[in-house]
Amino acid sequence: MRIAMIGTGYVGLVSGVCFSDFGHDVTCVDKDQTKIDRLLAGEVPIYEPGLEALLAKNVAAGRLTFTTDLAEAVAGAEAVFIAVGTPTRRGDGHADLSYVMAAAEEIGRAMNGYAVIVTKSTVPVGTNRKVAEAVRAANPEVAFDVASNPEFLREGAAIDDFMRPDRVVVGVETKRAKKVMAVLYRPLFLRDFPVVYTGLESAEMIKYAANAFLATKITFINEIAALCERVGADIKAVSRGIGMDGRIGDKFLHAGPGYGGSCFPKDTKALARIGQDHAVPMQIVETVIKVNEEVKRRMIDKITDLCDGALRDKTIAVLGVTFKPNTDDMRDAPSLTIIPALVGAGARVKVSDPQGRHEGEALLAGVKWVDNPYQAATGADLLVLLTEWNEFRALDLRKVAKKMAQPRIADLRNIYDRDEVFGAGFSHYAGVGR
Ligand SMILES: NC(=O)c1ccc[n+]([C@@H]2O[C@H](COP(=O)([O-])OP(=O)(O)OC[C@H]3O[C@@H](n4cnc5c(N)ncnc54)[C@H](O)[C@@H]3O)[C@@H](O)[C@H]2O)c1
Repeated sequence: MRIAMIGTGYVGLVSGVCFSDFGHDVTCVDKDQTKIDRLLAGEVPIYEPGLEALLAKNVAAGRLTFTTDLAEAVAGAEAVFIAVGTPTRRGDGHADLSYVMAAAEEIGRAMNGYAVIVTKSTVPVGTNRKVAEAVRAANPEVAFDVASNPEFLREGAAIDDFMRPDRVVVGVETKRAKKVMAVLYRPLFLRDFPVVYTGLESAEMIKYAANAFLATKITFINEIAALCERVGADIKAVSRGIGMDGRIGDKFLHAGPGYGGSCFPKDTKALARIGQDHAVPMQIVETVIKVNEEVKRRMIDKITDLCDGALRDKTIAVLGVTFKPNTDDMRDAPSLTIIPALVGAGARVKVSDPQGRHEGEALLAGVKWVDNPYQAATGADLLVLLTEWNEFRALDLRKVAKKMAQPRIADLRNIYDRDEVFGAGFSHYAGVGR
């Protein structure tokens, strides 16, 4: 099947590469000429494990190409995916649909025969109908259907998530569109991965409800962690103890510095706005958004306490700035709140991150980038472990402690235990919720 993928970012690129690996002919479109030039040269513009090899394989097989020419890619395609960004709209928290609607109009103008226009971007309920209206207005003659196909992949594990999903959600209204979607996902269907067919509105709602639930779960455990610190309980034991309950599950129960990333912050805000628009306030989600901000502030307090209450002229080594390991994505990362607060209070901040520097340099003013955790620790008064990259999980703590001016650690991901930290020569330790 011929596919046009409009938007070649984290989702569009991974989806395009994976669909081509299923055997479809995929053209990935982006209006960013530099991105397309890099892809045409065989370079992958994002850090995503496994993506480079899979991309090269499918380009070599002649099933995957890249262009900035949307019209050329759309003409003759049987499925046209919209995978452009839906960031938070400035000022009001709504999802900004301008990229989606602009793409819909361009697609409409370019279509020359029946196609299913599939929205993969995360969009508020009702958007697929607006996409259909925009296409119809741009090209009243052409036959088409719309489908809502929200994406659930996680950065850092995106290929595996796409190839082995918990489920595929497809919102459709016609048999013809359903058939096209079934052909697209046939390899997954054959391997018994469940496909949930539903209406457009339900599919759109499933994505927001899923992300809001996960953000709530993280925030819940972060709030319990704050209480654990006061009452002498250990959040790791508590998470383990509640996670074994099958009704709760052990995922997303790791206390930390608050959720971030390209999805949870913007999607929780958008869902809160959708609720307000329909006079059904999403009170739980609104609270989650507020508490998550408090969690980040609490981390700043924790760091300040470990510096004896004064950050001015302290040297702080920060390990990890991306919102999670195995990605270079910095969007809404907790580091973007925490590090500027430290710099603002007069601390000298040294940063090490395996992939975050390229994006992070423009976003984090006044910090010094170094190549590895040991360079970061040298001469530092405090080590802050912010993102749990694998290379930070097995540090030679003795070596780290020796290099520091004051061997103190804020382990905001609870990777190390108090006893092992003190045993390695540290004088101060703070985790989260313990
Ligand atoms: N990143 C994730 O982990 C993730 C996971 C699930 C769902 N989503 C959703 O998927 C959507 C895309 O997210 P992303 O992280 O891939 O975004 P992104 O910002 O990485 O990529 C979007 C791309 O679309 C391009 N674009 C915008 N308008 C265009 C147009 N008219 N024609 C061609 N290209 C255009 C941009 O240049 C950009 O490269 C969002 O709605 C997001 O919420 C993201």
